[in-house]
Amino acid sequence: MQNNEDVSFENIAKNIITTDKFNELKKESHHGLTRYIHVMRVSKFTYKISKWLHFDYVTATRAALLHDYFTESDFNGEKGLKKGVEHPKIACNNAMKDFDLTKKEQNAIVSHMFPLGKSIPKSKEGWVLTFVDKGVAVYELSKYKLSNAIAIYTLFIINMIFFGQR
Ligand SMILES: [Fe+2]
Ligand SMILES: [Fe+2]
Repeated sequence: MQNNEDVSFENIAKNIITTDKFNELKKESHHGLTRYIHVMRVSKFTYKISKWLHFDYVTATRAALLHDYFTESDFNGEKGLKKGVEHPKIACNNAMKDFDLTKKEQNAIVSHMFPLGKSIPKSKEGWVLTFVDKGVAVYELSKYKLSNAIAIYTLFIINMIFFGQR
């Protein structure tokens, strides 16, 4: 696929998003949603922004689709900072087993958590991905995870006020 052909998002994504493995992301929890919803949101924004900037949007979109290509089974239930640092490398290794990735795509995936971890984006497309991923993460966490936390906390307070003294 050539960038000057004006390739649609659907055309770039179809070889990746139709696989069984990619669809396993629909069962994975991520930012209060599923990892599938998260990577699709990041990919669509990355596509639009990198296309608008006349960057290599095919590379940027493919890297975005695969930037969180991992399941909880890759971590044995591990959470927190270690997972935050290590998941880009694991996602890249998983993606390389199932798809042919260019060096630029590999680097964009591995460095998407910059400044977390040791990898720095080496391409404009990698920088778009790392900024879009962070923006989407803030949006999703505040809208879906924080609202869940506030709802649970409110129920806890109501429970304490009405039932806690008994
Ligand atoms: Fe990630
Ligand atoms: Fe992400």
